[in-house]
Amino acid sequence: MKLTTLALFAAALGTTPAMAQQGNADNGKKLFETVGCFQCHGLAGQGALQTGPRISRTALPLEGFLQQLRNPLNQMPPYEAAVISDKDAGDLYAYVKNMPAPPDPKTLPLLMTMGSK
Ligand code: HEC
Repeated sequence: MKLTTLALFAAALGTTPAMAQQGNADNGKKLFETVGCFQCHGLAGQGALQTGPRISRTALPLEGFLQQLRNPLNQMPPYEAAVISDKDAGDLYAYVKNMPAPPDPKTLPLLMTMGSK
């Protein structure tokens, strides 16, 4: 019993920093849909011409992502730490970074039949 507790403790110590770095994508999803990112970037992060670029699977590193949130390049409203903490920003990043990729058009049967008649 004592050994098990120790092992669990060690495991927790070993995994916590990695998990913090990875962020909690579930919380990120909630934030994405409540703080309003989706209004400009779309629910799938696909972006839209008039409102904001595609951000799903962003190529930005976490630092660049944070930078954009705190000091946006241009039109995007800034999100200060009082609104989105660094931890929440990390969760958002984890969510955006791992959004599912759009399907390959070649895998869409309906598209493949178009123009073939
Ligand atoms: C009012 C519209 C709007 C909202 C709301 C918004 N964005 Fe943006 N976002 C933009 C625009 C426009 C840009 C293009 C750069 C700029 O104008 O700063 C951008 C750029 C970005 C980029 C950089 C894209 C790249 O690859 O260069 C990221 C990442 C991003 N937004 C994330 C977010 C997140 C996360 C949220 C929610 C916390 C959010 N945005 C909310 C409009 C918005």
